Amino acid sequence: MTLPPGKMGLPILGETLAFFNDPEFAPKRFSQYGPIFKSRILGQPTIFVKGSQANQFVLLNEPERFTVSWPPSTQRLLGPCSLSMQQGHTHRSRRQILAQAFMPRALAGYIPTMMSILERYGDRWCQSSPLTWYPELRHLTLEIACQLLVGLENGSQTSLGKNFEGWTAGLFSLPLPFPWTAFGKALRCRQQLIAEISSIIDHRQSTEDRTDDPASDALGLLLKAEDDQGQRLSPTELNDQILTLLFAGHETLTSGLATFCLQMAQHPAVRHRLRAEIDQQAQDPLTLERIKAMPYLEKVMQEVLRFTPPVAGGFRQVVQDCQFETYTFPKGWQVLYQIAATQSDPSLYPNPDTFDPDRFESEPIAAVPKHGYLPFGGGIRECLGKEFARLEMKLFAIHMLQTYDWQILPDQDLSLTITPTPAPKSGLKVHFCPRR
Ligand code: HEM
Repeated sequence: MTLPPGKMGLPILGETLAFFNDPEFAPKRFSQYGPIFKSRILGQPTIFVKGSQANQFVLLNEPERFTVSWPPSTQRLLGPCSLSMQQGHTHRSRRQILAQAFMPRALAGYIPTMMSILERYGDRWCQSSPLTWYPELRHLTLEIACQLLVGLENGSQTSLGKNFEGWTAGLFSLPLPFPWTAFGKALRCRQQLIAEISSIIDHRQSTEDRTDDPASDALGLLLKAEDDQGQRLSPTELNDQILTLLFAGHETLTSGLATFCLQMAQHPAVRHRLRAEIDQQAQDPLTLERIKAMPYLEKVMQEVLRFTPPVAGGFRQVVQDCQFETYTFPKGWQVLYQIAATQSDPSLYPNPDTFDPDRFESEPIAAVPKHGYLPFGGGIRECLGKEFARLEMKLFAIHMLQTYDWQILPDQDLSLTITPTPAPKSGLKVHFCPRR
């Protein structure tokens, strides 16, 4: 049995501190050991993999060789009925139900709400310029998620928004359940979040059954949605599923939008070309078809998600000893497939550190080896909200470039913190004004 190269670090703790504190943790080791290395993080022996072949090996072999595995803190905080925790038949049937909230018809229905929230935020940002944009983008994405997932207005200003902050802060932490730890605080926030979501669901159930109105948000659809056996989600399960969707649809999108804002400010030629396409194509009312008719917008978004993928990678666990190339993946070990490292691999992307949407002109995504471009993961756990995310990012781009200008303020640290999603360290300070 040949284990991959690498160091396991200290007993139990392994290299956990470096993993959290050093953004170059994986890149350094990939350049030292090659595309597969071992370490110990979060108390578990772990194999890191990058590259199209290795990602495929991990993503396409669930459930035979790999199963989903989140760090203990994430497992406890997401809850046992979260789609991200479920496996096998249950996972398949729940995906089928939840997917109904992301079908094209549902997405088309979300456009007016997304646009009206974007308009409100844009106006507010003009009035509060200069501003630190990242926290504002978090409010925006939480507000859109709350409104479109559970019909809650002004989500970021409510107690749900505040509890959500505390809950998110503990998601990737050491699972020490004391009142003063991030994890302990997050557990308390989870209790309150579940109580709040539960009361929204109770209220909706009592009214929804009495109306035939088409649902205007995901909860409305999910209360009525069935799998192919005619099964619906129980209220208890809906709590965990809604919490999962709120989380998945909020942190990731914030990071993606921030990368877009930053890259547009730093690449005027890309911004001008994109704005010209938007000015020509984006007429009211915006529809899925009109958005599809903007090929440069598509390439810019593809490059945004390649350049700084909001999710750097995904955890799995080995369920039976298996072999990839010359290395053994022992049963019980954790595997971390790497999105960021794969998408910055020069063998897949020439000049990977250059932001260049035109790379997808000469080599479209379809020509990239399978799982060499994977901002939304792959296999049976590919992102369920992928089209929702792409829609929100595109509407944001259209509205912001049509209506506003922004410049990055000097004297700030634009390097990225990475937990849980990449964010500029100084929070992205900008001057924001109406378009000239
Ligand atoms: C899963 C990325 C937005 C819902 C995933 C995974 C990735 C990902 C990489 C797979 C994780 C793994 O392999 O373990 C992203 C990115 C987004 C985004 C980059 C935004 C730019 C969203 C949105 C929603 C969502 C808006 C829903 C509102 C989910 C769910 C899963 C998932 C439910 C779990 C799927 C399963 O386990 O079957 N996402 N996501 N995501 N995403 Fe997203």
